[in-house]
Formats: sequence, structure tokens, C-alpha cells
Amino acid sequence: LIPVIAIDGPTASGKGTVAALVAEKLGWHYLDSGSIYRVLALAAIRRGLDLANESGVAAAATGLDVAFSSGSVWLDGEDVSLDLRREETGNAASRIATLPAVRAALLERQRDFCVMPGLVADGRDMGSVVFPESFLKIFLTASAEARAERRYKQLIEKGLAANIDDLLRDLQERDARDASRLVAPLKACADAVLLDTTKLSIDEAVQFVMDFVVQ
Ligand code: CDP
Repeated sequence: LIPVIAIDGPTASGKGTVAALVAEKLGWHYLDSGSIYRVLALAAIRRGLDLANESGVAAAATGLDVAFSSGSVWLDGEDVSLDLRREETGNAASRIATLPAVRAALLERQRDFCVMPGLVADGRDMGSVVFPESFLKIFLTASAEARAERRYKQLIEKGLAANIDDLLRDLQERDARDASRLVAPLKACADAVLLDTTKLSIDEAVQFVMDFVVQ
């Protein structure tokens, strides 16, 4: 059995940073499932698809030419890592993520990351749908204000445009969409451990997760 740690939570909660660091400490693989939704959203936009066209976007998911290597994400052979981080891509990802056929089409692609010696996966439904057998499920949150501030810093560091008020409004909209969708709505699994990182440093959050892993 391949061990999996599932880290789920709302937008900009810091789950990606924490998950990547835990994976590095353990020498395990890391799945940023949001980047798969983002890359599909980008492909859909580039192909001129209507983001509400469920069968069209799901078909694009099946044939998606995407590769994850050297810390970058490649779409049709092009490094799209920076485009993926743009807020407009995140918003488009959150829209296509509401479509059941799209989520189904991306399921196997995510499960393919589950290889020895283990996997740390972050997203919205890692513990509930994609890897329900995860031995550890963490639901990682932070206040909306703390999350908007973190996202702001992240975008500025990458040289991308950011406005704190727009970010706060966008993330509240995205929270509402993620929580109210019919398939795999964002909520903590009954067997998840809650971790509120509003007042925690990254190192403290990583240590909290590591304390559950008996080596
Ligand atoms: O953290 P943030 O929401 O900015 O981005 P992300 O984790 O890269 O995910 C982008 C969008 O994809 C989210 O807003 C979710 O709506 C969706 N998503 C999802 O539905 N299920 C996942 N496992 C991961 C992401």
C-alpha cells in the first residue's frame, strides 16, 4: 500500500507550500491538484472554449498534453508555470471545477501521482474523493484576510499584478463556489484533522503535519 497524506483547504490557505515542504522532508512525491485544474482552464481559454461547456472542457481534459518536470508545468510543450499562477487562471479553474464531467475526467490523472515511496497531495477533495484511503487527512484553513495577504505577497514576488481588496473579494467568491458546488464541495472530511494557520508560521504548520508521521 502506498502511503498518502491528503491536505485540503480553501484558496490561498498555504496548503500548497505546506504540502510541498512535507513531501520534500519525507522524500515523497507531491501533487498540486489545483495546478491540473488551472492547466486545463488555461487550455480551454486558449482553445476558445466556453468555460461552461461541460462536455467540451471534459473532452479537452482527456486529450490534454501536460507534463510536470523540473519544477515547471508544460502545456503542449510550452512552459506555462507563470500563466498558471495568474488570478484569472485561478478563477477560470474554479469555474470548470464545478463541472462533474470535468472532475471525473481528471481523476485518473491525479491518481497517477500515487507512486512509491509515498504521496503528499493538496487540493479540495484529496481526502474525500481522490485518495479516500489517505492515512492522514489535514484540513488546512486561515482567515480570509490572512489568505488575501498571503496571495498578495505571492503575486507581487512573482512580478504579477495584485490588489488586496480585489483578492479578498475574489477569494470569498471562490470559497462560496468551491463550497456550494454539487460535486466534491469543499468541506473537511469527518476523519480530517483541522489546522488553522492564521497565526502559524510555515515551519510551525509543517511541523504540525510531521508530528503525525511516525517514521
Ligand atoms: O489555492 P487556489 O484556489 O488559488 O488555487 P488552486 O489550489 O490552484 O485551485 C484552483 C481551483 O481549482 C480552485 O479554486 C478549485 O475550485 C479547483 N480545485 C478543485 O476543485 N479541486 C482540487 N482538488 C483542486 C483545485
